Amino acid sequence: MRLAIYAPDIAQNTGTMLRLAACLGVGVDLIAPAAFDMTDRAFRRAALDYLDAVTLQRHESFTAFNQDRRGRLVLLTTHGAIPHTQFAFQPSDIVMVGRESGGVPQAIHDRADARLKVPMRPPLRSLNVAVTAAIVLGEALRQTGGYPVS
Ligand SMILES: C[S@@+](CC[C@H](N)C(=O)[O-])C[C@H]1O[C@@H](n2cnc3c(N)ncnc32)[C@H](O)[C@@H]1O
Repeated sequence: MRLAIYAPDIAQNTGTMLRLAACLGVGVDLIAPAAFDMTDRAFRRAALDYLDAVTLQRHESFTAFNQDRRGRLVLLTTHGAIPHTQFAFQPSDIVMVGRESGGVPQAIHDRADARLKVPMRPPLRSLNVAVTAAIVLGEALRQTGGYPVS
């Protein structure tokens, strides 16, 4: 199981997701461009000292990421047709979140093997991106037996 973060805008959210990935033992694909760099204070404060514990791969573009990827691309989007709890995850899946300001471009929607939503009460628009990642990775690891043994 991996988490792909597409062109993030907000340093704290990415720091929080890297901390999440470190704790859960999930590798991360970080797809440029990001609106901040790894020296950003807010990013480092959110990631704590867990950066060394993350298996992190950076990609200069979605095209580069897509050429390297081995698993299914499972896109999380408020436009998804399938609730995440009704999807059968595989251990090799790559769960992708979009950018805070606008998700992902249509071309990435078209490349996704599945598009999932976390159901919400209408008319509310969206969850925080890091909260979304935590909810869905939790379900994906539960289904696939991928939680770390502590
Ligand atoms: C602020 S939202 C962007 C909203 C945009 N309409 C979209 O769905 O891509 C940032 C990211 O959080 C994730 N997200 C937020 N709420 C979600 C939900 N209810 N279901 C699935 N993904 C969600 C998506 O990955 C989204 O790209």
